[in-house]
This record gives sequence, structure tokens and C-alpha cells, in this order.
Amino acid sequence: MNIKLSDGTEIPVEMHKIKIVQKAHLVPARERLQAMEEAGYNTFLLRTRHVFLDMLTDSGTNAMSDNQLGAMMVSDDAYAGSESFYRLVDAVKEVFGFDFLLPVHQGRAAENLLAKVFVKPGDVVPMNYHFTTTKAHFELAGGTVLEIFTDEALNTCSTFPFKGNLDLEKFRQVIASHGSDHISFVRMEATTNLLGGQPFSMENLRQVKKMAAENNILLVLDASLISEQAYFIHQREAGYENTPILDIVREMAGLADIMYLSGRKSCAVRGGVIATNRKDLFESIKPWLPVYEGFLTYGGMSTKEVEAMAVGMREMTDLGVAGCSADMIRHFAHRLIDRGVPVVTPPGGLACHIDATRFLPNLPQSKYIAGSLAAAMYLASGARGMERGTLSTDRDRDGNEVFSDLELLRLAVPRRTYTISQIDYAVDRLTWLHRHADLIKGLTFVEEPPILRFFFGRLKAIDNWGQDLVEAFRKDFGDEL
Ligand SMILES: Cc1ncc(COP(=O)(O)O)c(C=O)c1O
Repeated sequence: MNIKLSDGTEIPVEMHKIKIVQKAHLVPARERLQAMEEAGYNTFLLRTRHVFLDMLTDSGTNAMSDNQLGAMMVSDDAYAGSESFYRLVDAVKEVFGFDFLLPVHQGRAAENLLAKVFVKPGDVVPMNYHFTTTKAHFELAGGTVLEIFTDEALNTCSTFPFKGNLDLEKFRQVIASHGSDHISFVRMEATTNLLGGQPFSMENLRQVKKMAAENNILLVLDASLISEQAYFIHQREAGYENTPILDIVREMAGLADIMYLSGRKSCAVRGGVIATNRKDLFESIKPWLPVYEGFLTYGGMSTKEVEAMAVGMREMTDLGVAGCSADMIRHFAHRLIDRGVPVVTPPGGLACHIDATRFLPNLPQSKYIAGSLAAAMYLASGARGMERGTLSTDRDRDGNEVFSDLELLRLAVPRRTYTISQIDYAVDRLTWLHRHADLIKGLTFVEEPPILRFFFGRLKAIDNWGQDLVEAFRKDFGDEL
């Protein structure tokens, strides 16, 4: 929660106590160079023993609460009919208002099922922005993802509070040119991950729902980051400043025909769900659940995770929980802005996003700007972030490179995991890196997988710049850090 100090500054004060900790390791820069070389300049391929601050993702890396851990101890381990499942059904009803629930092992499993049932070859799937796994599943099913975001969405120096809005005029055009029958559904992603965690407004969601309903198109809500989405509406949308997070969540869910989520984010637990109030939609997905995930009452999750999700789902509607990561990210971003480091504004959810294009203005996209910055940040700090740019965008069907709309280094801030001093350390090292940006010369592939290449792809530093950067670092900080 942001609290104003007596000197007028605001800091994000943690509304929790830390009861269990894990030892962190900061290996010296030379070891980081060796680890990075071995990882093919891909932060996904680092071992955590070499990582100090793991800012790769907020997915499955959040601190769980005492109540979540306690609930795991009383899970009902049954293949079918587990009481844990019914406790999750109650939580989904209470928090989102949905009657029908399909648990899945994680978010992309929900996407796989939705693709299987709703996306037909030749269909289009309009959305406010894609997520990597979303796009992969919908395209594997023969659909085409249409991103119909507003012009403001790609402006990384914006003050617009709702860059995750769907462009209604473009939606109208998509309906007119493709026809409702060829639109699988319209998908709204809560705090668009790849746009820098930017929310949509409730008003925009309402309008999308109206247009979809008038044209007999289903509205699918990706609610993986629903608590941050609700927090931003609470903070930024007129009329919601006094509305409890729970009511905002329920209002959003009430506009969706189908909601799915990865539990690994807002709910702070591994797993996922699909939920709806429409029995016909539930019945159309249900037969596929045991084929891909598991029986209806566990869907690929352990019953411990099912229990922890029921608790995490309720806890995420607490204002202090909903805003804990967003407030820290705001602090992170403002400190960087004060030091002249280019970040995406306004600060969004899940991560502080560095605008790699402005950070490395002389590097062409063909040399993987954001990937280079992710590798450089690890070398300079031991903090690993994730590339969200051209590396995360696969080649087209003819093998041509597809340059991403944005080149971002995502430094995730998992919920209740890091402290302000750790964030300030990352700020300092990024500031140092910004002053040495000219040393970073780009990356080139050594091994390039055919799909979701950012996960396993191996690259190398052009002209061995990793070594030069580490030498410059050692000159300033010595051999120990
Ligand atoms: C918005 C969004 N949707 C879907 C997914 C996929 O979820 P999972 O990683 O649980 O498969 C993610 C994961 O990061 C996400 O951010």
C-alpha cells in the first residue's frame, strides 16, 4: 500500500510480515559471464544458483500466505469428488460469481481447451493484445489472432491510464469484414502482459461486451492478472475509487461469457481455471478436460494447489494484496525515471518494463534489442528479467523475422517476494548499465527453435560484448560483486 511519509514522498509499504525466507546468492560478475555464456545469452536457460533477483516472471514465483500453506495441509486427495474441488467451486462463485468450473494445470492448458472447442480453421480471434501461449494455441488450431489495441497502446511514454483498451472501431471493422460466424470469440486480457501490464477500463470492457453481444460473439476474459486489473480500475477510473476490489472483480467477470486464468499470478498458486455461467459452454468443454488435463475435480492440479487457489483467490481481493506488486512497480519505475532510464509509462502490473528501444537507440531490431538488454542486466546485477520483444515473436510461416511492436525488458516483481532495498539495487545497476549502453552490441542465434523460440533458443553476443561489459563493471565495482 502506498503510504505518504512526513517529507511528502510516497513509498510502497508491505502489508504483510515475512515468516519464511529463502537464501539468495549474488555471484560475482565473472561467474555471471560464464553462466550467461553457458545459457546461450538466454535468461531462461540460467540456473537459479546463479541468479540473485529472479525477475524473470511473476508466474508461480509469488510468496504464498500462511493461510494458503495451511489450507494445503487439509487437502482431500481423491481422484474424483474431492472436497477440495468443492471448496474451490465456492471460492469461484464468491469471488467471480460463476457457477461452472473446470480446473486446469495452468493458464495455457485453458487456452488449449478453448482453442480446441472454439477456434476453427480460418477463424479470427480479436483481442486487446496477444500473450505468447495464447497466440500459439489459437494459431495451432488454425485461427488468426487480430490485435486491435488503441494507438496509445504502443506509446511507451504515455500518461494514458488504460493502454490495454480494445479499439472499438477496429472491432466493428473486424466484425464487418469477417462476420460473426468466423470470429471464435473476442478475448480481453486483464493488464495486457506484453504491452507492459497495462489495464483496460471497465467502461471499455462494457462497450466490448455490448458490441460482442449485439453480434452474437462470446467474450472471453483472461483473468490471470485480474487483481492488478481491478486495482488499477480502483486507482484510475472515475467512480471506482471507493469500490472494493471484490466488487470490481465481480463486475468484470459478470461481463464475460467465459473466464479463464493462470492461477500462478494473482492467485499466487500453480494451476488454472476456466469458469462460466453458461451450462452449454461448460458442457462443450467438459468432455475434453479428462483427455488433456484430468478428471473434473482436479484438472491436472494437485488437490493441495486446488485448496491454496481457493484461499489465494479470496486473498487477492484484499486491497493490500491486489496492490502489493503494482505499488512496488510504481516505485521501481519512478526511481528509474528520476535517473533518466527509459521505462514504460504509466507503470503497469506484473513488472517494471524497460523500453529497450530507447535504452539502446543504436541497435537494430534484427540484433534483438530487448534480448540483449536482458542479458546485459543479468551481467551487471545478477537479476534476471525476460525479453519481451522480437525474440518472443516467432518467425512467420515463410521463415521471415517478425519485428515486435515493442522491445521491452520485463523485470517482474513477484508478489510479496522482494523488498524495497532489492528493488533499489536493481535500479542502481540499471542506471549503471544505461551509462554503459554503448558496450551492448546485440545478439545472434546459434540455435533457433521453430516455435516459442525464446524459451530454448541459444544466442551469442556479437563481438563478445558480454566480456567488455563485465570488464567495465569490474573496473567500477571490483571483483567481489
Ligand atoms: C495473461 C496471461 N495469460 C496466460 C498465461 C499462461 O499461463 P501459464 O503460464 O499458467 O500457462 C500467462 C502466463 O504468463 C499470462 O500472463
